[in-house]
Amino acid sequence: AKLLVLHGPNLNLLGEREPSIYGRTTLTEIDAALRATATAAGHQLDSLQSNAEHELVERVQAAGADGTALILLNPAAFTHTSVALRDALAAVALPFYEIHLSNPHTREPFRHHSYFSDLAVGVVAGFGADSYRYALDAALARLAATAA
Ligand code: DQA
Repeated sequence: AKLLVLHGPNLNLLGEREPSIYGRTTLTEIDAALRATATAAGHQLDSLQSNAEHELVERVQAAGADGTALILLNPAAFTHTSVALRDALAAVALPFYEIHLSNPHTREPFRHHSYFSDLAVGVVAGFGADSYRYALDAALARLAATAA
């Protein structure tokens, strides 16, 4: 199946951005690990990082038409602000997993609300770069179950 990973604003800075919160692993390393795991399981994985809300909205819309089976999404700051990205996910009605490196619930109050969690299949937060790995693991299990 086709899987899509979307990373929101400032995640291009992973590795150097507030490492005490987000860790030292770079986005390139995260994407490479996800792609290797997905490929080994017989799937295709595409990924996009953008600092621009409209690019993420357009990629979600495209996913609705290009045969994407499932989305792994770290909306980053858009988690707490973007009705537009939420609406795009609702429009394409693809299953998605919400991912955060940090646990937003232990942080500032403005990070406690997500525009995505009530639509997500599940939310993985607080495990650093491993949050992506755990979410992919859950996604692969779901794909195996639905293909059977
Ligand atoms: C984040 C948490 C968000 O609150 C923050 O704006 C981010 C990253 C995370 O992965 O922990 O940019 O989504």
